[in-house]
Amino acid sequence: MLNVTPSDQGLGAKVENLDLSQPLTQENYKKVEGLLGQYGVLCFPKQNLTALQLRDFSSKFGTLEINVANVYQEPGLPDVMILSNKRVDGKPIGLGDAGQDWHTDMSYSKMIAFTNVLYGIEIPHRNGQPLGNTEFSNMRAAYLALPEELKQKLEGKTILHDFNKFWENMRKQPGSTRAPLTEAQRKAKPPVSHPVFLTHPITGEKVLYANPGYSIQINELPKEDSDEILNFLFEHQLQPQFRYSHRWTEGDVLMWDNIGTIHNAVADYKPDEPRFIKRCQVMADRYFPQAA
Ligand code: OGA
Ligand code: MN
Repeated sequence: MLNVTPSDQGLGAKVENLDLSQPLTQENYKKVEGLLGQYGVLCFPKQNLTALQLRDFSSKFGTLEINVANVYQEPGLPDVMILSNKRVDGKPIGLGDAGQDWHTDMSYSKMIAFTNVLYGIEIPHRNGQPLGNTEFSNMRAAYLALPEELKQKLEGKTILHDFNKFWENMRKQPGSTRAPLTEAQRKAKPPVSHPVFLTHPITGEKVLYANPGYSIQINELPKEDSDEILNFLFEHQLQPQFRYSHRWTEGDVLMWDNIGTIHNAVADYKPDEPRFIKRCQVMADRYFPQAA
């Protein structure tokens, strides 16, 4: 039996008594899917996984993304990505600044992301406290709390999401090593539109599908109106009562719902405080096959 302990925050639950190195039964797959819809963020503590086992578990939930621009891959397993600030012989061995602003994964893509699965292998600590938390905010709660008038105004409207917005924001951070996207890279990732409100495929409930990292324009509104409303949404969606902050422990597998939540990687650790995480991004093709 799975042992589920909800957090006392706006979302999140700890799930024990499931060894992710073993093949996931259909029954447990269904349970985990339901819990992900219900709690948005699941932590499976004390896991001990090979990269292959991480991939096998993740791929139960949909097709894995192979990030073409990403050179930080597990050798031989291009769908397992490395997030790390570590260097070997002066060279980075992982993407060091992944997710360091509020966003949801792959909203810039026609096929959006369903869930991201991170396996924490090295977690930085200072004075006995873990650093590099991953913070989340609950977009079902954010939808419900919108003023009625705005819900009506935005119903049926769409938002344009641009990969380059996040990329450029990261480039502005001190010490960034990101080069501007080339013309070819920009062409490969043109902005895409999605409804402002999505119906969550697991819960059937509406969620606000907007995020400061990638959202650039409400298509059906004049620019000025759109800017004003997007700024309102970006502030609205980060209210403390919607939030949950995950404090990492080595061996955690953290899995989150990329449709009903947004997240932010807290950049509060230094280059000599190592963080090393393996990651599989699962696309939502099980739920939106027509977008594939
Ligand atoms: C990501 C991401 C957060 C983190 O992998 O998409 O946002 O805390 N990671 O590493
Ligand atoms: Mn992310």
